Amino acid sequence: MSVDFTLNGHPTSMASPPETPLLWALRDEKNLVGVKFGCGAGLCGACTVIVDGQQTRSCLTTLTEVAGKTVQTIEGLSGEVSTAVTEAWIKAQAPQCGYCQPGFVMAATAVISADPKQSRDQALAQLSNICRCGTYDAIRLAIGYALDSLNGRIATQSQGRAR
Ligand code: FES
Repeated sequence: MSVDFTLNGHPTSMASPPETPLLWALRDEKNLVGVKFGCGAGLCGACTVIVDGQQTRSCLTTLTEVAGKTVQTIEGLSGEVSTAVTEAWIKAQAPQCGYCQPGFVMAATAVISADPKQSRDQALAQLSNICRCGTYDAIRLAIGYALDSLNGRIATQSQGRAR
């Protein structure tokens, strides 16, 4: 029995067993390896994808749970918010080893898409991803840059730090 949903804008059908974690179905069946395995317990956020607009831990989400829904991975990001987020990530030089960063970008994109007018602190309060390199200062900067960009402001580094 296959599970059908929309993946990165395209109808898709998964042949993996319905109880398969979305994380492994995406990686093993679709070769979408931007989604990472970290803890497997819903804690680290390395596996974050966007399901129907919500940041979602794909390690704890079965294929059955996304049937008929819309799933986005980092490979399928497009649009104004994700562009602002990825440009901000580059500007802030957020990644260190980089392993957790796709999950952070996906979580930030979901949170900022829900309300691009929110403050940086409001956005940060909705992120619970973990970075073993400790890049949190750069990620704070990146979130500020993304919100500034989306709100039409030219962000200088000092403005980003002050927010
Ligand atoms: Fe899913 Fe850590 S691998 S939250």
